[in-house]
Amino acid sequence: MSEAAVGLSGKRRKSYSWVSIALHWTAAVGFLVMFYIGNTFEEMPRGPERREVLLFHIALGMTLFPLFAGRVIWRLYEGWPVEPDQPLLLKLLGRWVPRLLLLNVALQAVTGPIAVWTGGNPIDVFGLFSIPSVTGKIQIVHRLAETAHVIGAKTWIPLLALHVLGALKHHFYDRDRVLVRMVRGGATLDPPKLSPEPVARQG
Ligand code: HEM
Repeated sequence: MSEAAVGLSGKRRKSYSWVSIALHWTAAVGFLVMFYIGNTFEEMPRGPERREVLLFHIALGMTLFPLFAGRVIWRLYEGWPVEPDQPLLLKLLGRWVPRLLLLNVALQAVTGPIAVWTGGNPIDVFGLFSIPSVTGKIQIVHRLAETAHVIGAKTWIPLLALHVLGALKHHFYDRDRVLVRMVRGGATLDPPKLSPEPVARQG
């Protein structure tokens, strides 16, 4: 088996913890919902309804911010467990697609609020509280943050497609425990195959 990427905890891991698994699946659902709302907004004609959808996207994004931030920080702390043995190209994809997805989560969580604040606007969270802009209007940063946020949303789809295809390939074609490890805390890649080879008939 290949090496693990040791995180700030300094531990070399073979499995994901329950915290990692809970963060992976809840943040995945949160990210999908945020993407869906952002996409809906982008396709709407200008007007009050479009603005309502944008305000909802912003309020939900701020609500989910601790989840996304916790997700990224926890992975940096725990590191990545040992990788499955596979050909170099698949090994590189298996290593870098999740890292780019994690970077994507961080990018969206940071550029979203920056774009709102540097546009000179507060972030209103469902009328419960409002976080005023401390920066005021800074047009250049606003543009940059907005562009990065849109690029992040566009690059996320091909990355996610590769990621899900990879997980399904491991589970149904290679029949290893890569997907099982992201569902059951403490599960490792041993034994390498999900079910034993059929026993050859005697005689
Ligand atoms: C919806 C279907 C999804 C499936 C079936 C899936 C499956 C998996 C599996 C099996 C692993 C473990 C890979 C390994 O051990 O080498 C994993 C890790 C990972 N996934 Fe997903 N995933 C999904 C959605 C997402 C989404 C939406 C994101 C990000 C926006 C994401 C980001 C990550 C990251 C960053 C890792 C590395 C470990 C971690 O930080 O939790 N996944 N995923």
